[in-house]
Amino acid sequence: MCGIIGYVGADGALPIVATGLKNLEYRGYDSAGIALNNGTVDVFKQSGEIDDLTLPAEHSATCGIGHTRWSTHGQPTDANAHPHTDESGDVAVVHNGIIDNYESLKSELSSHTFTSETDTEVIPHLVEEHLSDGDDLLSAVEATIERLEGSFAIAVTTSGQDGFVVARQDSPLVLGHGEDGNFVASDVTAFLEHTREVSYLEDGDVALVTGADVTVYHDGGTVDRPVQTVDWEADAAEKGGYDHYMLKEIHEQPQALRQTLSGRLDTVTGDVDLELDLPEQYLNSLEEIQVVACGTSNHAGQYAARLLEQFADVRTTVEVASEYEFRGGRDPWRTLVVAVTQSGETADTLSAMRRAASAGARTLAVTNVVGSTAAREADDVVYIRAGPEIGVAATKTFAAQVATLTMLTVYVGRQRGALSGDRASTLLENLRRLPGAIQQVLDEEDATREVAYDLIDSDGFFFVGRHLGWPVAMEGALKLKEISYINAEGFAAGELKHGTLALVTEDTPVLAVLTDGAKPDQTLNNVKEVESRGAPVIGVSSLDDTTKYLDVEFAVPDLGTLEPLVANVFLQLFAYHVADALGRSIDKPRNLAKSVTVE
Ligand code: F6R
Repeated sequence: MCGIIGYVGADGALPIVATGLKNLEYRGYDSAGIALNNGTVDVFKQSGEIDDLTLPAEHSATCGIGHTRWSTHGQPTDANAHPHTDESGDVAVVHNGIIDNYESLKSELSSHTFTSETDTEVIPHLVEEHLSDGDDLLSAVEATIERLEGSFAIAVTTSGQDGFVVARQDSPLVLGHGEDGNFVASDVTAFLEHTREVSYLEDGDVALVTGADVTVYHDGGTVDRPVQTVDWEADAAEKGGYDHYMLKEIHEQPQALRQTLSGRLDTVTGDVDLELDLPEQYLNSLEEIQVVACGTSNHAGQYAARLLEQFADVRTTVEVASEYEFRGGRDPWRTLVVAVTQSGETADTLSAMRRAASAGARTLAVTNVVGSTAAREADDVVYIRAGPEIGVAATKTFAAQVATLTMLTVYVGRQRGALSGDRASTLLENLRRLPGAIQQVLDEEDATREVAYDLIDSDGFFFVGRHLGWPVAMEGALKLKEISYINAEGFAAGELKHGTLALVTEDTPVLAVLTDGAKPDQTLNNVKEVESRGAPVIGVSSLDDTTKYLDVEFAVPDLGTLEPLVANVFLQLFAYHVADALGRSIDKPRNLAKSVTVE
């Protein structure tokens, strides 16, 4: 997730675009840049935070576009920072999204010189080709986006152009209509201090934005996108109108997952493209995968371990990273150590990964942060592409981790010959349907809130699940604990009766994850055991006929091995609304930090 902004009007563009970028910093902050157009285009860009960007004290341009980056293709370097230009430097582009077919476009443009590793750089080169064929900027951008596969929100300006052209496909873009000029941005936060009159572009829209006018085109004709007045304050706008980043990030999951999966699945052949090149011989001789991770990432690892054993036929263990040194390191030559870490900076995980590497194991980092320590130090890396997560409690990154690790399972299973194309296709088809299934759960938020409000006075909570539902039960409990400060524990459904059942009373509700068909009868027996002790039971279920055992049931759509991941979204919303009703500091829970960089 990157942030883009553009302004054209009567005022100097430099301070407006620079402040707009600062307002968008929460969308990404590993590099930044601005292109100013006063007849000729000047570009200022570099890696690092927006405050560190070297800009001129003054500039006469009244048109400018800017970008703050969250890397997906290429390290956060000066060369990879946006805006990107063609060879002449006349066409400047800022882009949020991922161009899936950039490699094939790049080889088509073999006579052009590329200076970055980004997917974006193909865009100015394609625009330049059309401009040199005599097109105006609007037609050049229209012709260019016809060639692009993937997601994009772009703004393009060129020397001699009054204003800029913008286009959107599967990435957000909003226009701002001011008295002295017009704006475009990834969200309204960027320009809220200048105007509250906005219109939202839709997929397939292209707009020509000048100081005097904004014209939106769709399918060759002009269209009206209604102008609305935003009444949020800046703080709420940054959170997309939600009260907390955590809630915004829960709701962002469908979009984040589309980005995670973009260009990586072939549901017909059952293959995945993770830009990963583990030698086939190495994968075939692999005896074990060891996942090292902490907290929520550890739960994602536990989910993945069950998939890897089932579909890739490889023994997989999951270690709490801080415990790895006491157990790991068996037969390192035939062990792949997978470090799952959102931040890529968790000290315990890095230490386990280093230990494995020094023992001779190959290491693979699964992380959200391009250029993080884990990404740099591991032998191989796969990015989960969830965009920045601000809330301390991990939500969308857990979903993106499990989705990425499901793709890794398919990759390893296919390479090892353990997974047929048909079974792989089913897994990938479910991944493709995942964002829609999660949206269905999000649409039930009001009902989840009601149940949460009813239970805020409880003494404590238990979460139970079987097989893939077990890691999700643990994750549900962790989420509730960390933001509500109420004690909660997650158990394997069959395990409660071996002791902990003694604690179950009418004041300890039980949330049961009833999904993925793993011995549903036994799991329902476990549910009956707690129900007969008087505990309220809330089921998150894809099973038929469970209502009679449950006080409340939330339905999870059928989605095979991904059903528990969908169920987890109910648990996230539940935890959020319990904590909200109790007035907790949801985005910054007491005693916790987003990234734990000490052992
Ligand atoms: C819980 C949470 C933590 C992190 C853990 C590991 O909501 O966010 O449990 O999952 O600190 O962090 P990363 O994934 O950055 O290594």
